[in-house]
Amino acid sequence: MKLFIDTANLDAIRRVADLGLLDGVTTNPTLVSREKMPADKLYDEIAKICEGPVNVEAVSQDADGIVEEARAFHKRAPNFVTKIPCFEPGLKAVRQLAEEGIPTNVTLVFSPSQGLLIAKAGAKFVSPFIGRLDDISHTGMDLIEDLVMIYENYDFDTEVVVASVRHPLHVLEAARIGADIVTIPPDVIDKLLKHPLTDIGMKKFLDDYAKIPKG
Ligand code: G3P
Repeated sequence: MKLFIDTANLDAIRRVADLGLLDGVTTNPTLVSREKMPADKLYDEIAKICEGPVNVEAVSQDADGIVEEARAFHKRAPNFVTKIPCFEPGLKAVRQLAEEGIPTNVTLVFSPSQGLLIAKAGAKFVSPFIGRLDDISHTGMDLIEDLVMIYENYDFDTEVVVASVRHPLHVLEAARIGADIVTIPPDVIDKLLKHPLTDIGMKKFLDDYAKIPKG
């Protein structure tokens, strides 16, 4: 399972890169707005840290505009992937970009039927937002199961990026199902690593080590 970090914060991205665990980065306009830096400058800085896919969102509302944005991102750095919302002009743009060999990630995905059309359009990635489904009393993880099954049934190349992850169980469930990628916010990455019994055990070992006579 590949691990992307879901943030536009450079320090958080560097930290996971330094751990050797960074397979990619996902951003969205909300995450970028928290960083108080022009978006293009921020994207270039992220691309300096991350060799894998750097997902940056198109904001045009028509297919031609989205295609232009994606072409420009692709020209700036080949590892930029354009995130495109799941709406009609978006799917049209995905098809066009797929023909040009430009990678896309269709975002704001909430149903298996959307996922089917996205794969047929030729997107490289699909981003189902599971936390937001949980928020409205739907089981977000059901969508991951459906997408993984549908894509396997037809050998679609589109990779499932589990997004809108809120806690470690989302990551574990996604791994059990066999999702290709999980994009994880920095605080959830910390929670995946930490265990109180590890901390207690380390302290005890260090305390006991101090009691060993030095030769
Ligand atoms: O990857 C998508 C993610 O950024 C959305 O997360 O928590 O705003 O639903 P959230």
